[in-house]
Amino acid sequence: MGFEFGVIDSRAFGCARQCKEQYLPSISQEVPWLSPLLYAEISRMTSPASASDPVRFAYVGCGFVGQTIHIPNFASLPNCRFLALAEVRPELGREVAARYGISKVYRSHEEIAADPDIEAVGVSGPYSLQGKIAEDLLRAGKHVFMEKPMAVSMRRAESMLEVVRNGSARLMVGYMKRYDTGNLLLKKHLEAWRASGECGRLLFARNHGFCGNWLYGGDPNVPFSQSSAPQPPAPDECPDWLPADRRPSYLGFLQQWTHNINLLRFFLGDDGGKTRLVQAHLDPDGMTGLTVLEINGTRAVIESGMTKFDGWDEHTQIYFEGGWLKTSAPPLVQKEIPASVEIYRSNHDGCPASIVQELPTPSWSYREEAKHFLACIRSGEAFRSSAEDTLNDVRIFEDIYRQVTASR
Ligand SMILES: NC(=O)c1ccc[n+]([C@@H]2O[C@H](COP(=O)([O-])OP(=O)(O)OC[C@H]3O[C@@H](n4cnc5c(N)ncnc54)[C@H](O)[C@@H]3O)[C@@H](O)[C@H]2O)c1
Repeated sequence: MGFEFGVIDSRAFGCARQCKEQYLPSISQEVPWLSPLLYAEISRMTSPASASDPVRFAYVGCGFVGQTIHIPNFASLPNCRFLALAEVRPELGREVAARYGISKVYRSHEEIAADPDIEAVGVSGPYSLQGKIAEDLLRAGKHVFMEKPMAVSMRRAESMLEVVRNGSARLMVGYMKRYDTGNLLLKKHLEAWRASGECGRLLFARNHGFCGNWLYGGDPNVPFSQSSAPQPPAPDECPDWLPADRRPSYLGFLQQWTHNINLLRFFLGDDGGKTRLVQAHLDPDGMTGLTVLEINGTRAVIESGMTKFDGWDEHTQIYFEGGWLKTSAPPLVQKEIPASVEIYRSNHDGCPASIVQELPTPSWSYREEAKHFLACIRSGEAFRSSAEDTLNDVRIFEDIYRQVTASR
């Protein structure tokens, strides 16, 4: 629809300022008791937030991830003022809002985009639709935290990034593994080894991502409401060149292993455009196999497999000449359990060989990413998983499937 939310937001702001400058003086004379209230409200609308103000927040999508992860997490954080929810299935939206004492319930993200009270929005929608939802919100001037993937095509991702570059709103993508305290500990050691050269040359990186049951160890007490109302169909936003019969497996591969590639890029220091596809070799299911990448000058392999294992089978290992660093992912929704970290050093300079397990600070990566989003909104600091960075993941997945499709 030809609706410019950014225009509405700035018009609301403009009206408030005009009211303050032109009309408030005469209201003060005619209705003296009203003017302090109006003055306070208009000042709130026209003043920039201070560093200690809670972020005026809303959330789009009361599906599984919204209800079991992000809505409870954001609602629990003291610097989040949770003002509104949007859900296309309105009864579901009302039920979830009542649970967390959220006062406004909207039927779609478009109503959130038009609400001048809201400055930042979390989004978890169907993966082919959430890029468009985020883009509409960014156009309206709202900062956005969204679930991965940012987009399922470069066309959408580039359009989103253009809105970010030309506007005032910022976009963070929910790659929660970058906020896991175990992964951060590994990265600290990795950077120290690279800087000092103490373990020799960085040789190789490997991510083993065989999945399993991602809900293993989840909290059974988190309330969850179901809805029998159908969801509206999500648009097909896959790349134009991708044949129709490859679209389901492309979406499956992208939505799962985007985490693994994004994490390897983080560890190896690809801060933009330093990753190249060497070779993808996938089974006819389009997901199981090997993907070889070159990331910031280091060869890296993703071992992908969709298993029926009970827990979560994923680890990442970074090899140097004189040792390795390894992080093993926890089951994703198990709270307060970060990735575990092991460090192997070979026998050198008279020191005996050792394998040490280091214990990271207990944390839940999804809550850490929510904290990071709110803190960066106020501080202006760059997001650790920004839209600019994430565009690279979208590009790599198009490259992988271009190659897989061509070699059929
Ligand atoms: N980071 C992770 O570990 C992780 C894990 C699972 C899923 N995800 C991502 O989370 C996203 C959501 O997954 P899910 O399982 O919660 O999906 P879901 O289908 O359960 O939930 C999506 C919700 O959005 C609502 N919705 C759709 N369009 C809307 C609109 N325009 N306005 C308001 N509401 C709208 C739907 O009615 C539904 O309730 C996916 O993109 C997926 O990739 C991430």
